[in-house]
Amino acid sequence: TCYYPEHWDEALWREDLSRMLACGIEVVRIAEFAWNKIEPAEGVYSYDFFDRFLDVAEEAGMKVIMGTPTATPPAWLTEKYPECLNAGIDGTLYRHGLRRHYNYNSPVYRKMCGNIVEHMAGHYAGRSCVIGWQIDNELNCEANEFYSESDTAAFRGYLQKKYGSLEKLNEAWGAVFWNQTYTDWKEVYVPRPTVSGGVNPHQTLDYLRFISESTNEFARIQADIIRKYIKEGDFITTNGLFGHVDYQKMARESIDFITYDSYPNFAYDLNIYSDRDEMKDRKWSRNLSETRAVSRIFGIMEQQSGAGGWNSRMMQPAPKRGQMTLWTMQSIAHGADFVSYFRWRTCTFGTEIYWHGILDYSGRDNRRLAEVCDIYKKVTALREIAGGEYEAAVGIIKDYDNIFDTEYDKWHERIEKQSQRALFETMQKTHTPMDYVYLTEKTGAEDLQRYRVLFYPHPAILSGRQAAVLEEYAQKGGILIFGCRSAYKDINGKCTMEKLPGVIAKLTGADIPEYTAIAPDREVMVRWGENAFPAAVFTDLVDCAETGKQEAVYMSGDDAGAGALVSGKVGQGKVYYYGSAFTEGAVRAFLKGACVENPYGNFITVPEKCEIAVRVKEGIKYIFVLNYSDMPAELMVLEKMWDMYAGKEVSGALTLEGYGTVCLRRFCDR
Ligand code: GAL
Repeated sequence: TCYYPEHWDEALWREDLSRMLACGIEVVRIAEFAWNKIEPAEGVYSYDFFDRFLDVAEEAGMKVIMGTPTATPPAWLTEKYPECLNAGIDGTLYRHGLRRHYNYNSPVYRKMCGNIVEHMAGHYAGRSCVIGWQIDNELNCEANEFYSESDTAAFRGYLQKKYGSLEKLNEAWGAVFWNQTYTDWKEVYVPRPTVSGGVNPHQTLDYLRFISESTNEFARIQADIIRKYIKEGDFITTNGLFGHVDYQKMARESIDFITYDSYPNFAYDLNIYSDRDEMKDRKWSRNLSETRAVSRIFGIMEQQSGAGGWNSRMMQPAPKRGQMTLWTMQSIAHGADFVSYFRWRTCTFGTEIYWHGILDYSGRDNRRLAEVCDIYKKVTALREIAGGEYEAAVGIIKDYDNIFDTEYDKWHERIEKQSQRALFETMQKTHTPMDYVYLTEKTGAEDLQRYRVLFYPHPAILSGRQAAVLEEYAQKGGILIFGCRSAYKDINGKCTMEKLPGVIAKLTGADIPEYTAIAPDREVMVRWGENAFPAAVFTDLVDCAETGKQEAVYMSGDDAGAGALVSGKVGQGKVYYYGSAFTEGAVRAFLKGACVENPYGNFITVPEKCEIAVRVKEGIKYIFVLNYSDMPAELMVLEKMWDMYAGKEVSGALTLEGYGTVCLRRFCDR
């Protein structure tokens, strides 16, 4: 659990830790906001406070993850060095009083952070109770755009390194358009307020890449320092996941694995909760799959354990009886090997007085603590699964260039959102586990080969190198599916003058003579053999080039009769170009066609409202079934399996209570 020794009278520490241990909490994360406890004035270091806490932890037998406190710079620091502050787009500095009001690029802030981390790691890393380190806290949460003078200076440096000359920068940004040509580096800034908001799209793409670089550099400075001091076997992580940061790079350069902060009650937040949203907290499986794309085995640094809300915003209900267990098992089923709750006691002061932990203000025993004790018993019974990997035959490819470009290209974002939602929800409903797979400059076809089917929904930007990796994947037997608006932009986000679909024209066998958005008052249906399903948002008219095979046509709308889907045979595999955004019907048709739908249907049947997630260790499958509804769910176990919680054999009909979970081990895998 997350614990804040600085929030409580020291007399409580011992009792708190022994109560935690009594119900199975074996690790606390501490210190991530406590800079002043270690450096109360510039250059003055004092270790006593956490020394005393770590003494208590060691006596009690509690393990500790230490956070570096750089998300909350001290008042003495920002007052003396305002250049460390972040700013709004209009240049107004964000002042002391909340958190995360700093920028990553100020040389002074980098130095001050380096100092505090050096002193913390140098002093505490050798303590026997310390098992790992968290860098900062939630990099890019709350603010993931940076507009300070330090950022502009660093942005110029980033661009100089990237382009070498202003001529090349002007060319890459298409600066001749609307006379944006730069004649001196001093004229180049991070985005600033403009007439209708927003700036040149190619500049924005570089700006978001730059933020990601800055975030990664900031993390790496700390990781490099901690590495010098940590004991063998201890780890470095950071808690995510937030926008404008390439976590693939972070995993390569700085952290041993990622941890995720999971607050599924955002799905029931009384301010934003919508009844139309079928998935609600089940959507957190999507976030967990994103986390798994960074590290196949990961941790949960903060798992919701109480009602949520700052004193200024948000209204989240407390987890209902059983939901803490459900969310914990959701995390474990997706690849978490540890789960830590936010937080032990609810703070009685400050911005988070309504953000509840396991215990309320008084600290008395309550039903949430009782649930933690019960979770501990269940988790103990699951220990053998640790290290086992989530199993999926279907992947959805993503990459940061397109994520950043799509965020700014609002039109493309509509297409992407529609498809991402349809893909995730349909795979959930059909019990087809899936992974997200990031295509980076390091990815090779061998990394993709574990998936029988890969969707790459709408990569507007696609390089020749990426296309070659994908071609090799198909050559070796993979099935690759593109959606509309693929490969029409170059690496700077400028549109290609090649015939569409650009660098994948040969690979897909498709030719796109024309395209258009679907007007809001139009419905466009697609016919693919015996399947009929709606198109969404956009239609590329998809003809065959020499090599392709026409698979489907639009059967209504202005372009009725025109091609909607073409496939190309590539080596042992197949590549599809589908001319629209994906809908549930389209996803179902592709999954069925590739025979990857519901792969566990032969040994267990579960209703649509439950999720199936499977972890595999040493060839043995562990099947988790998660019931997100408050009503019981009926399962049918079609062969003898081992119920991991109960420690007994089961088969036949099984009832999962509302919010209930079960983990079943297959016998025949042994
Ligand atoms: C997280 C953050 C915690 C706490 C929690 C509840 O985002 O890491 O420090 O603020 O949310 O608001």
